[in-house]
Amino acid sequence: MVTDITGYVASVYMRGISFGFVPTTLLAMVDACIGGKNGIDVGDYKNMVGTINQPDFLLYDVGFLKTLPHSQWRNGFAEVIKHAAIKDLPMFKELENFSILKYGKNKIALQNLIRRNALLKTKVVQQDEFEKDERRKLNFGHTLGHAIEKQYDLLHGEAVSIGMAFAARLSHQLIAFKGADRLLSLIEQYELPTQLDYDADKAFDLLQHDKKQESNWMNFVLLEKLGKATVEKIPLSILRNYL
Ligand SMILES: NC(=O)c1ccc[n+]([C@@H]2O[C@H](COP(=O)([O-])OP(=O)(O)OC[C@H]3O[C@@H](n4cnc5c(N)ncnc54)[C@H](O)[C@@H]3O)[C@@H](O)[C@H]2O)c1
Ligand SMILES: [Zn+2]
Repeated sequence: MVTDITGYVASVYMRGISFGFVPTTLLAMVDACIGGKNGIDVGDYKNMVGTINQPDFLLYDVGFLKTLPHSQWRNGFAEVIKHAAIKDLPMFKELENFSILKYGKNKIALQNLIRRNALLKTKVVQQDEFEKDERRKLNFGHTLGHAIEKQYDLLHGEAVSIGMAFAARLSHQLIAFKGADRLLSLIEQYELPTQLDYDADKAFDLLQHDKKQESNWMNFVLLEKLGKATVEKIPLSILRNYL
């Protein structure tokens, strides 16, 4: 949240001044400080106001994580699981063999994991900074996630986990994805939720305001298999049925 606000304020103050990030949460290290999206939530709507503007530098020190509360470790692992699910099957398998506790005790493994995630996101952003194509895949789990995060006062990672579980089940229904059970187990292994008794009408209303929506269909990220995502145009009526 701090990187988003800092990037936004620096981007509009005096029509923009240069800025850099020193991420201190796992979530910021593996995801939020990379890619230049600087967004502010408005009411229940996520990232309604913002810019895409890159920081001048990123400075990492994994030592900051020593004081990170356990809930924030879980929060960050949601984005790590997302990266593995959409682009990196070997990382998915590594995660299956680890846990939050094991990474907490193994500094080398943790550093490698953070570097791997930072590089994965950097590569996608360099390929498609303004989200015309490949970058859309990074929104896996975020369509429903964003529609429930503020409303139910969830951590971002919790909302995204519920969104990933939904997208995995939808992938099974629509394109015969076979890894849903494995993905749901991994999410639970990292102490994150896979379901929520949410208000489907309200979620659908918020979801339609998502920036990714175009007319009566929406670009939605599905999984073909573990480690491989695809972006499909899904009619809103179908999404509403599955919510
Ligand atoms: N811009 C992007 O690309 C991007 C990507 C992913 C997520 N996000 C956004 O990030 C936000 C989630 O961030 P958040 O609110 O969970 O994180 P946050 O920045 O609010 O930090 C979470 C908590 O951890 C504390 N904290 C931070 N570093 C600490 C440390 N080293 N030791 C102890 N405590 C520490 C903070 O004070 C805060 O209470 C969401 O709004 C999401 O939309 C943005
Ligand atoms: Zn996210």
